[in-house]
Amino acid sequence: MVVSLSDKKVAVLGAGKMGGILLQALLKDGLLSAERTTATVAHEERARGLAAKLGIKVGTDNLQAANKADVILIGVKPQVVGEVMAELRGHLSPAQLIISVAASVPNSLIEKTLDVPVPVIRAMPNTPSLLGAGMTALAKGKYAEACHVETATAMFNVVGRTVVVDEKHMDAVTGLSASGPAYIYIIIESLAEAGVKVGLPRDIATLLAAQTTMGAARVVLETGDHPALLKDAVTTPAGCTVDGIMELEEGKLRVTLIKAVVKAAQRAKELAFAGQ
Ligand SMILES: NC(=O)c1ccc[n+]([C@@H]2O[C@H](COP(=O)([O-])OP(=O)(O)OC[C@H]3O[C@@H](n4cnc5c(N)ncnc54)[C@H](OP(=O)(O)O)[C@@H]3O)[C@@H](O)[C@H]2O)c1
Repeated sequence: MVVSLSDKKVAVLGAGKMGGILLQALLKDGLLSAERTTATVAHEERARGLAAKLGIKVGTDNLQAANKADVILIGVKPQVVGEVMAELRGHLSPAQLIISVAASVPNSLIEKTLDVPVPVIRAMPNTPSLLGAGMTALAKGKYAEACHVETATAMFNVVGRTVVVDEKHMDAVTGLSASGPAYIYIIIESLAEAGVKVGLPRDIATLLAAQTTMGAARVVLETGDHPALLKDAVTTPAGCTVDGIMELEEGKLRVTLIKAVVKAAQRAKELAFAGQ
């Protein structure tokens, strides 16, 4: 289904790094119209700069921005969400949609703060959204319907891929795809370092490592083949790759990555409890 938001009023409350990435991409894509889009930040000076950069109205008054908006995107830090919601309490209606990208903030926290059943969707994007290569998971709150999920999906598809999950999986998503770019950067950095160790110039080693990572990821996504099968296809009997794989197994790469995701997901859960 094609969702158009150009006739809708959209307010981005907290247009920082993530809110700014989304705003810029959605305006560029034409999914949002500049005339109907507003944003807020904390500082007047930032508001002026952002307004000039994006060609939209940017202020510091959340209530004014959200008042008549059809879609309200919450992009403030998790610890500021409660404060922003308290400002909006008593001024929203169930005809509006709230989409929050705040990590570890459950839909119920937003729903409880408001006095009317406003549909809420929790989104967890990641930083490659900057280049349109993001991965976002969406989880709907108790008042959100399929049409609200469609709207949110259309918005986040502009910056990459989108999946819809049950909210109980959002901490796992945080540990895997939101923190994941950091793990992959370390892997790319290490492969590049290895290239230097075996005699390659650093810039060439980094290019080989990054393009190889992207290529392998694209093959997984585009063929849908199991990664183990794809790995087997690269591994010639008595060849070089199997020797490399033996080192990875001895160095416990697999279990280390699994433990990294488990720890990050656990931390996301702890932070959610702290926010409640
Ligand atoms: N960055 C990521 O990789 C990522 C990934 C997934 C989710 N998220 C989530 O995205 C949210 C924002 O993260 P970020 O990295 O984009 O942070 P950020 O760059 O610090 O952006 C936060 C923005 O909120 C504004 N702000 C602060 N208090 C406000 C208030 N009371 N009313 C309106 N605006 C206010 C700030 O204004 P000023 O600019 O004037 O200070 C800033 O523009 C967080 O909840 C985070 O969990 C981030």
